[in-house]
Amino acid sequence: MDDIKILLENYKNFYKEFYGIRTNPTNAVNTVQKIESRIHTDNKILEYGCATGFNLFFLYRLGYKNLYGVDACGEYIKRAEKQNPSIKFKESNFSTKVDPFENERFDVIFCRATLQQGFVSRQNVFNTPTGVQKILEMFRKKIKDTGKIFISEGPVCNWPEIFINCGLKVIEVINVAGTNLYILEKSCDKN
Ligand SMILES: C[S@@+](CC[C@H](N)C(=O)[O-])C[C@H]1O[C@@H](n2cnc3c(N)ncnc32)[C@H](O)[C@@H]1O
Repeated sequence: MDDIKILLENYKNFYKEFYGIRTNPTNAVNTVQKIESRIHTDNKILEYGCATGFNLFFLYRLGYKNLYGVDACGEYIKRAEKQNPSIKFKESNFSTKVDPFENERFDVIFCRATLQQGFVSRQNVFNTPTGVQKILEMFRKKIKDTGKIFISEGPVCNWPEIFINCGLKVIEVINVAGTNLYILEKSCDKN
């Protein structure tokens, strides 16, 4: 099976098993492809809200080897570790300011369909505006000065305004199947 087909299958299986829904993974797959076309195989990459690691596994198959994943749900992380032993995974929620990769700085941080999430009992995660702000500030701390952050979330709030308040600058917005993929850098005017 080729890489895209495996990614499509993994998406469908994840959302069916854990959310009990059938999804159309077009947006998800197109988003990851857009990100992939803008990064390099030697980049050090963190996915925040990685679930069972399917996006990172896709990158791994394309030759990316310096991969890290964080998710608040321990059950997903256990599954991710079992399925992808070459990728470093940790359970954490940055809104609590716990940083499991404390000494690491990344060339790329990406996050899809995660910050928008309200309460889901299985994951026991509820992202409040204050929590999201703490997560984005953590992204700012953990991205290298030359690094890029990719965020794709539903239109549940004014994302550009939130990014500015967290010291992040939007350098490009790509519309992927109706959802904005924001590409961000650290802005200089915040320490
Ligand atoms: C809808 S899934 C998205 C999975 C994947 N990013 C994708 O592209 O399909 C949301 C994931 O984000 C995780 N999540 C939500 N809020 C989080 C938070 N504050 N910190 C860490 N993980 C979080 C959930 O546990 C879940 O695995």
